[in-house]
Amino acid sequence: METSALQDIKQRYRIVGRDEKLDLALNTALQVASTDLSVLIQGESGVGKEIIPRIIHDASLRRTGRYIAINCGSIPEGTIDSELFGHEKGSYTGAIDEREGYFGAADGGTLFLDEIGELPITTQARLLRVLETGEYIRVGSDTPSKTNVRIVAATNVDLPAAIRDGRFREDLYYRLCTINIQMPPLRDRGIDSVLLFKMFAMETARKYRIPESVRLTEEAEKVVMAYKWPGNVRQLRNVVEQISILERGSVRITPQVLERYGITAGGGESFAMARIGKAGSEGGRHDWENQIKFLLNAVMQLRSEVEQLKNVAFGSQDDKPIHQPTLQLESKSLVPHYESPDLTDTRVPTMHIPDYDDAEDVTEEETLNIEEMEKRMIVRALQKSHNRRKVAAQLLGISERTLYRKINDYGIEE
Ligand SMILES: Nc1ncnc2c1ncn2[C@@H]1O[C@H](COP(=O)(O)OP(=O)(O)O)[C@@H](O)[C@H]1O
Ligand SMILES: [Mg+2]
Repeated sequence: METSALQDIKQRYRIVGRDEKLDLALNTALQVASTDLSVLIQGESGVGKEIIPRIIHDASLRRTGRYIAINCGSIPEGTIDSELFGHEKGSYTGAIDEREGYFGAADGGTLFLDEIGELPITTQARLLRVLETGEYIRVGSDTPSKTNVRIVAATNVDLPAAIRDGRFREDLYYRLCTINIQMPPLRDRGIDSVLLFKMFAMETARKYRIPESVRLTEEAEKVVMAYKWPGNVRQLRNVVEQISILERGSVRITPQVLERYGITAGGGESFAMARIGKAGSEGGRHDWENQIKFLLNAVMQLRSEVEQLKNVAFGSQDDKPIHQPTLQLESKSLVPHYESPDLTDTRVPTMHIPDYDDAEDVTEEETLNIEEMEKRMIVRALQKSHNRRKVAAQLLGISERTLYRKINDYGIEE
């Protein structure tokens, strides 16, 4: 039975899911919030770990204090001590001013240390000291400062294995995991993947003003539940966005459509294997590579459609060949995500993982006319190619099949 507190949390933080393991994680967060115990959140990448420290902070007496989230993996090793603990003026070359550091800044509040497994071993010693004594020493100082900070840490690496390899301090591990919260992988959450699919499909439709959101057939629901989702909720969200945008004409999503996006019953294993450091099979690696290739292709196609739209909308001065941009992958992103089309932007697209609250960043102008512009663009390509569909499709940078479908959808007469 779901308690009202739990329902309330799910609503407030827009958490979708009925799985018991998820409920246990959320309930534990609520129960320990009012204490000052350190919490360690463990779970694969993309499972939604980052919402837990926020829930803990908001439900604790510290909620009037500061909440600071730090990704330990993204701070260079050379500056991490000074960022966390502060430094004295002139303590090292470049330290022009003194710096308070996050431990000082979060006094009375909560500090979320994400990717704690990435913390350098020397920094781990400093952290252990704060946890044990509430004291820390700024870089370049010899007098300890006091702070009252609640630590919540998260990791997607197997810390016991890191301890065995000498990369993580055992004493720090035990200190951190007074309370342990396990966020379950999506593949173990039963029907939740389908519920999340629906939610993300509706969100994407709203965001891009697509009249009807894509829906899974019964068979496709089974596939979504049987796929391994190595990148978890983050991957699901990106895939649903891709499908919603690229399949916006076909509202019923069948297993065949899913397959084109690399989603098959039982698929997705290799990516998880590779990620946790076990040698994946050759075939497995292929599976993942194909997914990447497919998605990159989809992004390129979208990009060139946008380029063409731009030309039609703002007039193209010449008959330039279709621009096929090179793509940059953010090193940490698991599945590429296409940023909302910005028709005035000519930069090379980068992959981007959206946050909880960036759902409303498309302007009316950009979306209201998109179909009209697309239609005009197709008409123009057909005129230019003297109704040769193959040439027109090439001009547009889309497949002949897609062109065919769009001609029908828009009722274009040739
Ligand atoms: N239960 C959920 N409901 C809705 N969105 C979720 C949920 N869990 C995760 N997400 C989405 O998945 C993405 C990844 O979550 P995040 O907390 O960054 O994962 P982690 O830190 O575990 O890698 C977030 O951008 C968020 O939008
Ligand atoms: Mg994270």
